[in-house]
Order: sequence, then C-alpha cells, then structure tokens
Amino acid sequence: MSEETERRSTDVDYAKPLPQEAIETGRYRQRVGGEWETHGPRQLEYLIEQGLRPEHRLLDVGCGALRGGIHFVEYLDSGNYYGVDINETLLDAGYERELTPELQGKLPRDHLRATERFDLEFGVPFDFAIAQSLFSHISLNQIRLCLFRLAKEMEPGGRFLSTWFVAPPEHPLDEPRDNGACWTERNVFFYYYPDLTYAARGMPWEMHYIGDWKHPRGQVMVEYRRVGAPPADEALPAQQYDASPEKHQGPTLASRVERGLKRRLRR
Ligand SMILES: C[S@@+](CC[C@H](N)C(=O)[O-])C[C@H]1O[C@@H](n2cnc3c(N)ncnc32)[C@H](O)[C@@H]1O
Repeated sequence: MSEETERRSTDVDYAKPLPQEAIETGRYRQRVGGEWETHGPRQLEYLIEQGLRPEHRLLDVGCGALRGGIHFVEYLDSGNYYGVDINETLLDAGYERELTPELQGKLPRDHLRATERFDLEFGVPFDFAIAQSLFSHISLNQIRLCLFRLAKEMEPGGRFLSTWFVAPPEHPLDEPRDNGACWTERNVFFYYYPDLTYAARGMPWEMHYIGDWKHPRGQVMVEYRRVGAPPADEALPAQQYDASPEKHQGPTLASRVERGLKRRLRR
C-alpha cells in the first residue's frame, strides 16, 4: 500500500492489540488521547453536572484504558460502572494498571467487555451512557449501530451523552477541518449535526444539541434521551435535512415513536 493510499484509508484497526512495550511504558495513555489528569476528571465532573448520582448505572462506550472510568468507578456505588471498547489490551491496561486494588474491588472485571459491534447487553438497564471521543473515530454506519443497540439497553428516560467533532453548517463538506485532522470520509471524522439526527432516525431517542462542554480539542456534546417506547418497527419516510442544529432537535423522532406505539396499541 502506498503512503498516499494508506493516508486515505478510513480503516484504522482499533482492535489491534497494543505492543507490550506500549503497555509497560504507559504509552497506551497517548493512544486514547493523553490529557490524563484533566480530561479524565472532566468527564465525571460533566456527568455530575448532568445529574449522575452514585446509585445510577453508567455505560462507558469506547472506554479505552479507563481515563474517565477511574473517576466513574470511584464515584459510583460498587458495581455500577460498565465499559466496552473494541480493544481488549486497552481494557486490560485500564483495569490492571490504572485502578487501585480498592477500585478493582468496586469493578467486577466482567463489567469491561471487548466488542467489535457494540454488544452492549449486560442484563441490566442503564441510567446514563457516555461516549467520549468515540464518534470522532467511527463511521456514520457504526454510529447507527451503536445507537440502535444502545437504545435497547437504556432505561426509559436514560441519557446518552456523546462527543463529536462538529462542522458548522457553512463548512464545505469536501474541506478537511481542524488543520487537516478531521475529514468527511476519513478517520478522524467530523459530522454535521443533521448527520447525527439522520443516524438516529427510527430509533427511540430524543436528541438535544448541547455544544461546548470544555473538551480540550473542541469536541462538542450531543445528548440522546431514551424515550419510553420500544424501537419503532417501521421504515421512516425520506426527509429533507437542513444543516442548522435548531431544525433537528429530536422531537420528530420521539413523536414518530409515539405514533408507532399508538398504532400498535390500536391493533
Ligand atoms: C480517543 S479514545 C477515547 C477513550 C475514552 N473514551 C477516553 O476518554 O479515554 C477512542 C476509543 O474508542 C475505541 N473504539 C474505536 N472504535 C470502536 C468501536 N467500533 N467500538 C468500541 N470502541 C471503539 C478505541 O479503541 C479507543 O479506546
């Protein structure tokens, strides 16, 4: 593969085990973005601002080596933190190298799972979920899969907070952003807000654009709130999308689900 072809690839193999040297030297922290002392605690601080309490169950999607997980495990009641990632070696590094024995005692190892297709079923419903810097690394179809499978595991009213690199509506789709770091078609990805509303179509989520939440590299936040009905079982009609966030505040999704539910009840 030429350098140019490689550079254009969207396929970064996130599942590939990290070399032992990266584990032993702590270089794995860089792999998930560094900023260990600030961006770990910030995730907990933010979720507490959003209403997270110790008795809540939290799922950390793309949890990596527990940069945020360390703080969540400390804050939550024992056994209430769950994390998934595509890379098992990151999960091992997080559990074995980042957690003190006391924190390991609060986190059953089987609450951490390596999964390639968002297998998020742990047999318990979640009050909160977070995906910090996950959408920046996955395709829109992977986002759809994540949202679809996560919706089944959330409590009605449960909230999923996810970060992503947003492009303003006026940004040309064919120009990279962030000094060439983010692309429409290449990893690292940026998305317009309507891309995300599109990805959630037909699913029982109500979406809210939150925006800035003090991410060190400028990723913004979106909230998905699980509406109280099972996933809609019908295809949705095609819709025209406008690129401004205000036009895409999720109630359309909620009302679709509500209508679907009413129709089912009438049958
Ligand atoms: C930038 S890191 C952020 C990790 C963690 N959320 C944090 O704040 O430290 C992105 C993480 O997403 C994981 N990832 C990438 N693709 C994934 C997928 N399809 N399913 C689950 N995790 C994935 C990577 O392995 C990596 O740990």
